[in-house]
Order: sequence, then structure tokens, then C-alpha cells
Amino acid sequence: MMIEAVQVSKRYDTEKRKMSAEYALESTTLSVDKGEMVILTGKSGSGKTTLLHIMAGLLRPSSGYVLIEERDIYQMNDKELSAFRNRKIGVVPQGEAAIYSLTVEENIKLPDMIYGRQSTQDIDKILKDMDMYHKKKAYPGELSGGELRRMSIARAIYQDTDIILADEPTSDLDDENTNIVIQMLRRAADEGKAVFVVTHETDLLPYADRHYIMKSGQMTKA
Ligand SMILES: Nc1ncnc2c1ncn2[C@@H]1O[C@H](COP(=O)(O)OP(=O)(O)OP(=O)(O)O)[C@@H](O)[C@H]1O
Ligand SMILES: [Mg+2]
Repeated sequence: MMIEAVQVSKRYDTEKRKMSAEYALESTTLSVDKGEMVILTGKSGSGKTTLLHIMAGLLRPSSGYVLIEERDIYQMNDKELSAFRNRKIGVVPQGEAAIYSLTVEENIKLPDMIYGRQSTQDIDKILKDMDMYHKKKAYPGELSGGELRRMSIARAIYQDTDIILADEPTSDLDDENTNIVIQMLRRAADEGKAVFVVTHETDLLPYADRHYIMKSGQMTKA
């Protein structure tokens, strides 16, 4: 199993109450294997991003654990976890993740620069596939919302990690670009990556190997 969340729950600390009584996520178990694309849908506030962040090593669960290649990621120290995350997991965040002082190309290559490695992926081909090649030297401040989305997907594909976790990767995109993104994610799965996608768009469902639905922190198979 590539990545597995086992009975993960989350209660957020809030300022008013030390610990919220409510679970944003209740005892959820989910695994994604190599070559699979798994899709999670559900209403706003149901706990989808919470689960994705827990799986990404970005949010420690209140209980339960996450295994990546059989390793319990929250048992690692911060430094170990961030290096492991960088090597293994490509995250397409729901919000914006651009660094505005860097060009599109530099944003995409940033993890390489930080960790002193070199992806074997062809950045020009990825940008062309995503209809972003003409923006290679542009700055994020010069991009539309949809172009910013495509830039963060290009970054995840370029980083060539075994796991891709994408949070609403097609929001802000028109039909044509939604289609491009679906194809890119499906292809990544077909090439052997484990792909997990949170989405509102039902267009993506026919491409999924499995579909789950989140309701008030409880996940069920569709
Ligand atoms: N940092 C936080 N502190 C406190 N509560 C939070 C925090 N982040 C999320 N929550 C709460 O946890 C619940 C689940 O949030 P989450 O972001 O996982 O939902 P979501 O399904 O991704 O929603 P959306 O579709 O709007 O992105 C919500 O009730 C939200 O208000
Ligand atoms: Mg969300």
C-alpha cells in the first residue's frame, strides 16, 4: 500500500474552547495504492481538506496514524518528515501556493532548488500539456486564477513524487482546462502514482478507481 490513513480523527483546537467538542473528521480509514486514482467528494466543511492535510503530513491527527510505504509519518521528527514529504508527496493545495517573487518556472522548480535535486521530468512538455508554456517566464501576479491552479498542478507533476494529493484541482477552470487536468491526473495514476483528489466536480468521477463521500466528518464509499 502506498499511502494509508488508519482511523484518523481530528478535533481542532480553537481559541475560545481549548478543544472543540466536535470532530472535523471521525475515525477514517483510507488507502490509496500505486496506479490508483481515488476521489473524495462532499459538502463544504465536511472534512475533506482536513483528511487530505492529515495524509499529506501537514496536520497531525488527534488520533489514528498515517503510513506511507509502511512508515508511520507522524512518528518522524519535523526535519525528517519535511524531507520525506518533499520526496514522496506532491500536494496541490486548495488555496494559493505561489511565491510571487518567482516566475512560473522557478515556482515549479522550487522544491528541487531547496532540496538540491533534479527532476527527470520535462518541464516544457508539462507546461505545453497544460497550455501554460507561454507563461513560463511570467510571475504569478500576472496569472489568472485558473492559470495559478494549473501552475500548482504542473509543479506536482514535475516533482514526480509517488503520491499526488490534489485539493479541488479543477476549481476556477473552464471545461477545456478541467479536462486537461483530469487527463494529467489520470495519466499520473496510470504511470504508477497514487493519486487522491478532493473535488466538487462530478466530471472527474468516471476517471476514478474508487469514489468516497464525506458527510460531517464521516466518510463512506459511494
Ligand atoms: N484550523 C482550523 N481550526 C478550527 N476549525 C477548522 C480549521 N480548519 C477547518 N476547520 C473546521 O473543520 C471542518 C472541516 O473543514 P475542512 O476544511 O476539512 O472542510 P472541506 O470539506 O475541505 O470544505 P470545503 O469544501 O469548503 O473546502 C469545518 O467545520 C471547518 O470549519
Ligand atoms: Mg477543503
